[in-house]
Amino acid sequence: MTDPNPQPTRDPGRTTGRRAIGAAIAAAALVAVGAGLYALGIYDPIAQSPDRGTHQAGAIELAKDEARADHLASRDAYTNDPAAGPPTLPVGQDGYFVPRTVDEAPDNEFGDSVRRGYEVFTNTQTNASQHVGNGMNCANCHLGAGTVPESAPMWAAAVEYPAFRGKNKIINTMEDRIHGCFTYSMNAQNSPSGTPPPRDGDIYKDLQSYFYFMAEGAPLEGNLPGRGYPVPPEPAQGYDISRGEAVFEANCAVCHSSDGSGRQDPNGRWIFPALWGDDAYNWGAGMHRVNTAAGFIKHNMPLGRGGSLTDQEAWDVAAYINSWERPADPRQLRDGTSVAETDAQFHEHTPNFYGDVIRGDLLGDGVPGEPTEQAPSTGRPLGEQTASR
Ligand code: HEC
Ligand code: HEC
Repeated sequence: MTDPNPQPTRDPGRTTGRRAIGAAIAAAALVAVGAGLYALGIYDPIAQSPDRGTHQAGAIELAKDEARADHLASRDAYTNDPAAGPPTLPVGQDGYFVPRTVDEAPDNEFGDSVRRGYEVFTNTQTNASQHVGNGMNCANCHLGAGTVPESAPMWAAAVEYPAFRGKNKIINTMEDRIHGCFTYSMNAQNSPSGTPPPRDGDIYKDLQSYFYFMAEGAPLEGNLPGRGYPVPPEPAQGYDISRGEAVFEANCAVCHSSDGSGRQDPNGRWIFPALWGDDAYNWGAGMHRVNTAAGFIKHNMPLGRGGSLTDQEAWDVAAYINSWERPADPRQLRDGTSVAETDAQFHEHTPNFYGDVIRGDLLGDGVPGEPTEQAPSTGRPLGEQTASR
């Protein structure tokens, strides 16, 4: 990074930066191969589930098949004779619930809805294109098409709603939750329609069919192990953008680009998603919080090597990626409030950089590199600045 004034700065980390660049160049050669395989569909994130380093992937898959088969057998036994007792929970050898996968969906109208839901979830860019205002697909943050534990899996979510959420202080149905994901993570304000999918529409129904189908056999009182992105404890040294920059250059830039803009193939299809800027999640999304991003990164990144960063590295790099400008918080635009007001109302109680001045730029106004004094008080979506969207 050429920035002369990164802040907050306890350790300028220039030497580390140079070493990191060397490491990145070495890694680039390796990952270029990985990227090619990924684009060809050979490098499969489902098979690359995080935290599986201590087990043989093949053995786990077998144990999962057995767990599901046991569940189905015990369910049949219970149907035939209640004295056989309630069905077993399908739990794999790794201790996590074993979801049903889309290829098991039945050959009927419900199965069609499950398959459509899967298509929306994994290729939101195409299958909900009218409501996506950035470069994201749902599955970019919910790995393995929403099946992977500690990657906020959808089988764990399916049994949790309706639920009260502090974010909007009302009971949320699963439809409300998905509506929120489109609003923030998918930045719907910048989409062709400018809004999340219309309420009660097929996108919600199909996504919910997919989630419900995956969760078959899970207890309703939920909070299943593997739900959400378990956040590692905040390290004693806190979190630091400069240290995070070094972690980023050494472990992340090779796929996500040094400027965080991700990578697309020549046809404009996303290979590696953006982490900040126009095509990333907006300032209202859960991932903009340093703790939440640290939880996601610790368990899921670098892709295929989840669990390999220390807690300190996960927090630092989460801080770094969230210290750059991204699309505006839709609540600020909706309410016509200033960044400072939105900061006080919505961002005060979590660790994040919204409304802070970093590298001389006021974060949240949607204008990268703009000096604070000239920042417009209302802001506007970052995408309006570019010709491409
Ligand atoms: C930029 C990353 C990102 C994208 C893209 C994204 N989400 Fe999420 N999602 C999150 C985060 C962060 C959470 C909150 C997890 C937590 O707090 O532990 C979340 C939570 C959820 C939950 C609730 C999980 C639970 O256990 O309560 C659902 C359901 C969900 N997302 C669905 C979706 C859908 C559907 C899409 C696509 C329309 C989507 N998400 C796109 C980051 C993302
Ligand atoms: C080998 C390539 C690769 C490396 C290295 C890598 N990522 Fe990722 N990352 C991906 C891919 C691919 C996805 C989307 C996963 C999917 O769709 O299955 C992703 C998703 C993400 C997401 C959620 C989606 C988004 O764009 O916001 C974040 C955040 C993220 N990575 C951060 C990091 C960080 C931080 C590092 C370094 C510690 C890192 N990644 C290293 C390939 C990589």
